[in-house]
Amino acid sequence: MANIRLDVNHMMKDFLGERGIDGAEMNALSASLSNAYKAVEAGRGKGMQGWMDLPYNQDEILEEVEETAKGIRERFDAFVVLGIGGSALGPAAVQQALNHLHYNELPKEKRNAPKLYIEDNIDPERMAALMDVVDVRTTCFNVISKSGGTAETMSQYLIVLEKLKEACPNDYQKRIVVTTSKTKGFLIELARAEGFKTFYIPDGVGGRFSELCPVGLLAAAVCNIDIRALVAGAKKMDERCNSGDMTKNPALYEAGLMYLCMQKGMNISVMMPYADSLKLISDWYAQLWAESLGKNVTLDGKPCHVGSTPVKTLGVTDQHSQLQLYTEGPFDKAITFLKVENFRAVTPIPHGCENVPKIAFLGGKSHNQLIEAERRGTEYALYRSGRMSQTITLDEVNADTVGQLLYFFELVTAYTGALLNIDTFNQPGVEESKVAAYAVMGYESEEHNRKREEMKNRPEEKNAYIFE
Ligand code: PA5
Repeated sequence: MANIRLDVNHMMKDFLGERGIDGAEMNALSASLSNAYKAVEAGRGKGMQGWMDLPYNQDEILEEVEETAKGIRERFDAFVVLGIGGSALGPAAVQQALNHLHYNELPKEKRNAPKLYIEDNIDPERMAALMDVVDVRTTCFNVISKSGGTAETMSQYLIVLEKLKEACPNDYQKRIVVTTSKTKGFLIELARAEGFKTFYIPDGVGGRFSELCPVGLLAAAVCNIDIRALVAGAKKMDERCNSGDMTKNPALYEAGLMYLCMQKGMNISVMMPYADSLKLISDWYAQLWAESLGKNVTLDGKPCHVGSTPVKTLGVTDQHSQLQLYTEGPFDKAITFLKVENFRAVTPIPHGCENVPKIAFLGGKSHNQLIEAERRGTEYALYRSGRMSQTITLDEVNADTVGQLLYFFELVTAYTGALLNIDTFNQPGVEESKVAAYAVMGYESEEHNRKREEMKNRPEEKNAYIFE
């Protein structure tokens, strides 16, 4: 299986000119990069870095996941993930990458597995819509929550539980699988009391680093994705990045580039896959990058406001939407292309319109050629306007290369966090919004009562600023 390839030429001064990153700047950073590598390695498997063990310590779990997935495939027509943030973005990204682009619409005999729905929001219309398209009697619900207390997921759980109890009073328990912490939160207690099948999220694995544990593995295995190859791809990337020398560790080099971009005020990281299959990798990356690096205090307690804003786009679609801004707007972005060398389909473009040369020239070529020509066109337009870009190439999109890609970005994020000297693995800003939402919903506890009072102390809103 081929390694994924990182090409950063278009980031560098040698190629891009004045606006690029100087090799000398990278050399000056090499000691800090080496220290960042050491810091990340020192934390391997400890604290919130349990995700670094996932490529290595899951033999039994993989077996149990595959076994459970087999049973689910045999018994159910639909598999529904109830989760949000890190409990939903990974499963969605991997399904989009590794299964048919219209998976749910395929006839059952071609799918050979249940339909998959990932319900990561609580738009009131959404649950109603889901209930219109699934029969709860033949649906398996996977409730995923690390904390076991996230309002969105737990409210979905309550809705589903009631419906299941109505429809299958004698064996509703067999239609719920819970994936949560073994030691924390209420969900594990509920699951044990009800006798639901459970999978555990290791304590040292945060939501956004959890795709390669049962959070992501179960849905993938249910849908016949080769989870062993996914994990093996991650392991391959981990071994490839086993060096504190930036020239031998692509994730470390990449972290250095991203760090220098931030230092230069290029605080926007645009992810632009040129493949529909990789579209949701951008969503997954956006959470990983934003939640990990957007922090206001350093590890030694000094105030800081760091991070860079991830932007999710899709080539070529967004050439016709955002590229104008990227080429002529502010110099505040670095664009990452995800390129696929060999697509899983070849779509030839037939000859025709021979009397219209501007169209006829497309005949005899293919969408495979056109999409890469468009990517190169965009890369060139960015180059011409002095904008940074880089390309990560996947020989093909398969479980191995996707495993490599996910783990690559996890390492880049961890190294970048170490360079910024922040806690990459917490999310106090998210917790703040969770507490505030519970307070608004009337939850009674000292913390939430205090929050309600605090929220009242905001300035009065002025009618002058409201336009009706
Ligand atoms: O990355 C994170 O920690 C968060 O985005 C969580 O995944 C998200 O808030 C959902 O939390 P939980 O899995 O505890 O329900």
